Formats: sequence, C-alpha cells, structure tokens
Amino acid sequence: IEPPKIVVPKRQLEEEVDDGKKKVTIFFGTQTGTAEGFAKALYEEAKVRYEKASFKVIDLDDYAVDDEEYEAKLKKESFAFFFLATYGDGEPTDNAARFYKWFTEGEEKVQFNKLHYGVFGLGNRQYEHFNKIAKVVDDGLADQGAKRLVPVGLGDDDQSIEDDFTAWKELVWPELDNLLRDEDDKSVATPYTAVIPEYRVVFHEKLDASNEDHSQTNGHTVHDAQHPSRSNVAVKKELHTPESDRSCTHLEFDISHTGLTYETGDHVGVYCENLSEVVEEAERLIGISPDTCFSLHTDKEDGTPNGGSSLHPPFPPCTLRQALARYADVLSSPKKSALVALAAHASDPTEAERLKFLASPAGKDEYSQWIVASQRSLLEVMEAFPSAKPPLGVFFAAVAPRLQPRYYSISSSPKMAPTRIHVTCALVYEKTPAGRIHKGICSTWMKNAVPEDSWAPIFVRTSNFRLPTNPKVPVIMIGPGTGLAPFRGFLQERLALKEAGTELGSSVLFFGCRNRKVDFIYENELNNFVETGALSELVLAFSREGPTKEYVQHKMTQKASDIWNLLSEGAYLYVCGDAKGMAKDVHRTLHTIVQEQGSLDSSKAELYVKNLQMSGRYLRDVW
Ligand code: 2AM
Repeated sequence: IEPPKIVVPKRQLEEEVDDGKKKVTIFFGTQTGTAEGFAKALYEEAKVRYEKASFKVIDLDDYAVDDEEYEAKLKKESFAFFFLATYGDGEPTDNAARFYKWFTEGEEKVQFNKLHYGVFGLGNRQYEHFNKIAKVVDDGLADQGAKRLVPVGLGDDDQSIEDDFTAWKELVWPELDNLLRDEDDKSVATPYTAVIPEYRVVFHEKLDASNEDHSQTNGHTVHDAQHPSRSNVAVKKELHTPESDRSCTHLEFDISHTGLTYETGDHVGVYCENLSEVVEEAERLIGISPDTCFSLHTDKEDGTPNGGSSLHPPFPPCTLRQALARYADVLSSPKKSALVALAAHASDPTEAERLKFLASPAGKDEYSQWIVASQRSLLEVMEAFPSAKPPLGVFFAAVAPRLQPRYYSISSSPKMAPTRIHVTCALVYEKTPAGRIHKGICSTWMKNAVPEDSWAPIFVRTSNFRLPTNPKVPVIMIGPGTGLAPFRGFLQERLALKEAGTELGSSVLFFGCRNRKVDFIYENELNNFVETGALSELVLAFSREGPTKEYVQHKMTQKASDIWNLLSEGAYLYVCGDAKGMAKDVHRTLHTIVQEQGSLDSSKAELYVKNLQMSGRYLRDVW
C-alpha cells in the first residue's frame, strides 16, 4: 500500500529550502506586464551569471498576506530588486498597492539592515509624478537602513524604456559580481546571450466546447482582471451632434446576473477584440491558416515560457483567428526584444540583419525614429519584413504582447443604475506620422457595438475617487471632455441622496468642450442636475466658439474667490481628464488661486495644496 501523499503548499516549499546559496529575490509591481517582463529578464540573466546564488521572481501581492508578513519576510531578505511601475496620478499598480500602503503608511519604520537592494521604476516623463513609486520605495529603503546597490533606474516609456533597463542592468552586474561571486571566480564573467522565449504549441483537430475561455465567462465569485465577467451591451448612443468631426460614445453594460458590483467613482476594465480588418491583416502576415486550432504550453511550473523571460500564462485552446482577435496586441510598436525574435525567424538574411540592427545599441536612433516616433505598429513592421514568419509559439511569447484591458471612469452611480455600468468614451481615430490611420481598439469597438448583440468581458477596479462621506461638505469638480464621466456618476449619486431627503452641501462643476452645439455631452442631464439642486453651479468653457480659447482653468481664475471660499469651508476638489495638458494647467491655476486669494507666498501656497492632497481633499482621476 502506498503511503498517502503529503501536499506541501508552494509558499511553504519556498521557505523550507535552504541549500546554503545566497538568495536574491526579484519583486515586481506590474500592470501591463512590462515590469514583470523586466523582472524575469533580470532573473534569467542573473541565473546564468551567478550559478552559486539562487534567484526567485515574485509578484508583490503573492509575497505576503498581510503587513506583518511583509515585515517579517522582507527583514530576512539579503538581496532584493524591485521593478515598480507608476500609474495615473502617481499610483502604484494594483498588485503593488498592498505592499506600497504597508511600506509608506506602516506605523513604525522597520529597519532593513541586512538588505542590499536595487529599484528600477517604470514610468513616463510626460506625467507629473514621474516614477514616483520607485523613487519613494528607493528612498524609503535607504532611510530604513538598507544598502542601495545602484541608483534608482528611471525607466521612461515616452522614450525607450528597454534601453533604460539595459543601461541600469549594466550598473547592477559589477555590484553583484562583488557580492555573489567567490574570490576565485571573480575574474570570470559568464557570457550571456538572451534567449528568445517560446511556448510549446499543441495543434488540435477541433476545439472541445468545454475549452471555452473561463477567464472570459461568468461563474466566478471574485471578478478582477484575471476573472472578468461577460456583460452585454444594453444601450449605445452617440453623444456628439452630426456636425462633429469626432465621436463620443455612451455605452451601458448590463451587469444584472453577472455578480459585478461597483461604487460611484470606480473604473471599469474592458477586454475588447481587435477589429476584423486588423485580425485579417495579422493572419495574412503570419501566414498560417486562421482556422488552425492550437494551444500553448509552458514546461515550467512558474508559468514562464521555455527560455523564460516573457509574461503571462498562455490562453486556452482556440483558433488562430480567435487568438489574434482576443489576445494579441498587434497595433502597438514592437519592443526591441520582438525585433530580435522576428530576426531569428526571417528567412531573408538582409531582413534579419536589418531587424537585428534596429534592436541593437548601434540602431538606437533609427529605432526611436522609424519605430517609436513614427508609431509604427507591429503589423507595419511585419509588413516591412515579409520574410519574418515566427512560429506561433514564438509569436505569442516574444513578438506580440497580450492585448490589455482598457480602463474607463464609470459615468453612472449604482444609486441610479444598480444593474448598469455606464461608460463615456471618446473615439480614438488619428493619423500616425507614418501615415497609418490608427483606430483605437476599444473605442472603435464601443462605437460599433450593437445593443443586445455585443458583449465584452469586463471587471470593476475600485478607486479612491469618492464623494466626501458627509454630503454637506462642498465639492468642486473639474472635468472637461470625457473628464466629465465620473462627475456624471457623482451628480447621479447626489441627486439620489437629495431625492431621499438628504441635505447637500454646495457643488460646482467646471466643464469644457469645443462648441456648445457640437460636443456639449449630457447637456440636458447637466441642466437637470442644476434644476433639481444636485448641482449648485455649472460653469462652462467653450474652446472653439470665440476668437480666443476658453478653458476650464480660465473659468476657475474668474471664479477664484468662490473657489477659495469653498476650500476654506472644507470643500473637496476633484479633477478628471487629460493628465499631460489639462490636469497640469489646472494644478498650476489652483496654486495661483490659493496664493492670490489666501495672500500666501508661493511656497506657503504649495504647502496648502500639498495639504489638500495629503488629506484626501484634492483628488485626481487622470490619464
Ligand atoms: P481644444 O480641443 O479646443 O484645445 C475637452 O477636450 C476640452 O478640453 C476641449 O475644449 C479642449 O480644447 C480642451 N483642452 C485642451 N487642452 C486643454 C488644456 N491644456 N487645459 C484645459 N482644457 C484643454
């Protein structure tokens, strides 16, 4: 008789193994997979370079179940690297949120005297809080006694973040040579060549119906990015008038019977499919029959493809057509690693050489010009190198990243629409510098959606963009264009409260658009909010009606004393919309208003605004 098998949970296994090797832990906080990809790339390369050490890559969320465990485990670490992305208004990624909260808000400052560390940040210089999360963690660790091995890496997605990563890695190796190599092998540098990750592919005669993608269907109790819920489109409306040369869609997802719930101010994540014209183009370029049924597999427990450095676990069995529609991002510019993978499968040696050159340090300028600045999509690049025909296992592991969900600020309140999630989405339709018409994947899908017929896997992401708990506290809302979305939800909520007899504090909304007759979205509803008293004042800025541009911040300046009075009464101030232009300008205007109205000098005004922010009274939902 065989003895019963004892199953040891994976977490426990990791802790129990002690083979006397020096241990290095590589953490990542990732949203779209880039930070995770870098973490795994560092892992793969480090493993080869330092055979005598042992390495582990871990999702910050999986590392510990609570604050105490973060503290206990991190105190024991001797060598750690952190890959941390910064999002939106200087926020951590969802999977780093718990860690970050513990790290920044924990009651006592833990000492990490044993720890040697390095931090690489992923951000975008166009945004105000460039790499904030990485900087805060890097400084915090040093303040708390840990030893910084290398300066914090400030990856900039606006340029080439892969180059930033490569440069940062070059600083890491000499430090690790010192720490992880014995005296006798210090002089020996192990050569390393990047492996191209690849999934093992299994072809199927036909698809088993039970193989339907469960991550795309209902039946889960928890809904998140990994477990979205299939929701039908119930309503679709165009919000611009026919004179408009742009388009903005109002869409309602029916969430009854889905298990999804939301709160006013939350975001909805939407997985949509590539347009059929895009899928067909991709099919043609790959050159494999779109009806091919296949599945992808990893041969390692940790879910990485063979050879290692890539991202998410593969998707369930499907046809190539479905895989290209649902899972492949073929419209973003290819990363350098994708060019290397294409080069390895280009039958024409000239094409292979050129692809390799574009991915090499010598081809840096050309890569940034020909690919990044021209916004050349992966499909355009494949079109230019027709002999590059990667097999499916390489295409999905190394060439095309996973298609990511798109996030929208929900424009309804569950108090008014408990079984619906409303979305307000401007159509993305623009000519790239290379002359391609870029159609936004999700916004085009929404514009073309057919009520009752169209559906998408969706999930709700909670936010901290919330009305004050006390409804008597005044609110100032600033949201031009689709920045109006969450405020429509706020106003629906205030209207519901009012109808239920609750007394409301005053509220003012600054809304801006180009032309009253063309893109003044939800005009009747906004007027109704004023008539019913849910909104005390609606201030409008039309940018293309008169000879000069009128923006919301100009209107704020005109209303400076009102804003100051409301703030002095404890008002909350909210900004939603474009982060690069509008939110920055509004921030500056706010600073000026505080300075002038409060008769403060510039640094005192800055402190005032900072305090508003710190106390949660100045909230931004910006992108
Ligand atoms: P524009 O397109 O005429 O420049 C919603 O998109 C509104 O925001 C439009 O009226 C747009 O004006 C305006 N807008 C553009 N840039 C802005 C900025 N930096 N600050 C405030 N509003 C801006």
